[in-house]
Amino acid sequence: VTIRPLTLADLPAVLAIESVSFPQPWSEALFRMEINNPQAVHFALEDGGRLAGYLCAGTVLDEMDLRVIAVAPDARRQGHARALVAALLAEARKQGIGYVHLEVRESNEAAKRLYTSLGFRPVGRRKGYYGEPTEDAVLYTAELT
Ligand SMILES: CC(C)(COP(=O)(O)OP(=O)(O)OC[C@H]1O[C@@H](n2cnc3c(N)ncnc32)[C@H](O)[C@@H]1OP(=O)(O)O)[C@@H](O)C(=O)NCCC(=O)NCCS
Repeated sequence: VTIRPLTLADLPAVLAIESVSFPQPWSEALFRMEINNPQAVHFALEDGGRLAGYLCAGTVLDEMDLRVIAVAPDARRQGHARALVAALLAEARKQGIGYVHLEVRESNEAAKRLYTSLGFRPVGRRKGYYGEPTEDAVLYTAELT
């Protein structure tokens, strides 16, 4: 298993995973912007030469925002998301980041467990933040020390 920055060559594989992972998937244009943005932090996780998962994050001053993370359905429950988020937290520490934030659908128990097991704590809620179906977002923050 290798973790490295995303490249434009990953786009077809990323979009295939994205479309089966979210009711409101990110567009190709959005991923292109992330990959072309030198300030963005993004990782691809390769397993046996195949893209199995990815994440995109952004930095504002000393805070980081985990914006999207997904793992291919047939590659889940193998620790890939945990490895991706751990890589992000390591990168955040290296950059002197104090807080990493993210939002998750209230019903997304898998993601909520993943985040709390990595030190994220629920800190708030955005009412009706998601569509298809309409659902609250729970806000999580990890404080890095
Ligand atoms: C959420 C997601 C990224 C997890 O990826 P993954 O590679 O399967 O996760 P991991 O194998 O690293 O699991 C880490 C921990 O998360 C929790 N977890 C992951 N999937 C779970 C599930 N289906 N049910 C319950 N807990 C789960 C567990 O605590 C797990 O630790 P464990 O396996 O030791 O019990 C993946 O299910 C996914 O891509 N879902 C669709 C997109 C999505 O919801 N992204 C998050 C948006 S905020």
